[in-house]
Amino acid sequence: MNTCASQLAEHPLPPRRLPVQPAQAARRRVLAVGLIGPGRVGSALLDQLRAAQPRLARDSGLDLKLCGVVASKRMWLDCDDAELNGRHDGAQIWRPNDLDAFAAHIRGNDARHALLIDCSANDDVAAHYAHWLAAGIHVVTPNKLAGSGPLARWQAIRAAGASGARFRYEATVCAGLPVVQTLRDLLDTGDELLAVEGMFSGTLAWLCNRHDGRQPFSALVREAHALGYTEPDPRDDLSGIDVARKLVILAREAGWPLSMEDVAVESLVPPAIAALPLEACLERLDELDAPMAAKLAAARAEGGVLRHVAHLDRHGRASVRLAVLPATHAFAHTRLTDNVVQFSTRRYCDNPMLVQGPGAGPEVTAAGVFADLLRIVESLEARA
Ligand SMILES: NC(=O)c1ccc[n+]([C@@H]2O[C@H](COP(=O)([O-])OP(=O)(O)OC[C@H]3O[C@@H](n4cnc5c(N)ncnc54)[C@H](OP(=O)(O)O)[C@@H]3O)[C@@H](O)[C@H]2O)c1
Repeated sequence: MNTCASQLAEHPLPPRRLPVQPAQAARRRVLAVGLIGPGRVGSALLDQLRAAQPRLARDSGLDLKLCGVVASKRMWLDCDDAELNGRHDGAQIWRPNDLDAFAAHIRGNDARHALLIDCSANDDVAAHYAHWLAAGIHVVTPNKLAGSGPLARWQAIRAAGASGARFRYEATVCAGLPVVQTLRDLLDTGDELLAVEGMFSGTLAWLCNRHDGRQPFSALVREAHALGYTEPDPRDDLSGIDVARKLVILAREAGWPLSMEDVAVESLVPPAIAALPLEACLERLDELDAPMAAKLAAARAEGGVLRHVAHLDRHGRASVRLAVLPATHAFAHTRLTDNVVQFSTRRYCDNPMLVQGPGAGPEVTAAGVFADLLRIVESLEARA
């Protein structure tokens, strides 16, 4: 990608409306991009942006300029990313992390469009979105902490869109699967959401698919951990909190003011190991085995299967739990780490709409972020 050179602003960002491009300039569009969080997803995104850049410039006249990258401690500005991906010390410039200065740098002093992509899982970064949007900077993210964080902050983020800046977060729910956009399309075309049900955790889907009684549940958790399917701390998956966050994001998308406290979450982590340091917890994972074996036996006695299911209805009832489903249920036949989301709406009532497929992984998550970026560019074109 190209480089850009602009001065660091020393002062907080004032509100600014985005410029409307004159018709004759609409073919060539420049977007200044800043990446926050060059981790697994961020690095995959840099690869995808770099690979797509010649095609986008040729076919769409879109010129993506990577103007900076910021990680937890340091940031790089005016960088050409050829050597950047995974080679931080080779970057041309580095300074201590300063998110305000970073945003000011990406925005620049001219009338260009600027976009910040937050690929961190950091709440402090999410706390900056409203300010950035109000200053006219577009924001795209797979980070769930804004969408599921304090409701007042979420509402402030949405209100900040009045500046004309766009905020998109498709990859916060089931990575690259078109879940948020699908819900938005249903609602925008006049449909009414009645309920959402789904399996939003690839890790828990895999564990449920494999848990047939031949191996203790803890052995499967260890295998999933070794395969990289779980978070570094598997309790982050087993607690159901990550799934609850996705449910809150979908509820808010439908206009329902849900918060994390409103979701009844059944954790699979036994209380005795919930607060232990990670190493000690991993040593005592076999404490999961007896309760999980009992749940499996109970499901089989009913002729059903165990699945980790999130449920939300229009009365605001929200739950995340291990459910016994009939063997004929659509969720009983998912594969590997598949996520599945089922929308029941006024139109899709007798036969709900299903979105299904791999719901995690850096490549597919980065592609979801990239698609959001392209939708923002399209919307600017339509508005110009
Ligand atoms: N991986 C997936 O399959 C997947 C799927 C869906 C959604 N997501 C979401 O995507 C996001 C990224 O996931 P990941 O797997 O790529 O995580 P990761 O590999 O842990 O990368 C996180 C990145 O964020 C940076 N970071 C942390 N705090 C920061 C701060 N205050 N300012 C700037 N940068 C900061 C880290 O910097 P350092 O390198 O300095 O630590 C790191 O580069 C998360 O929100 C995750 O929930 C991931």
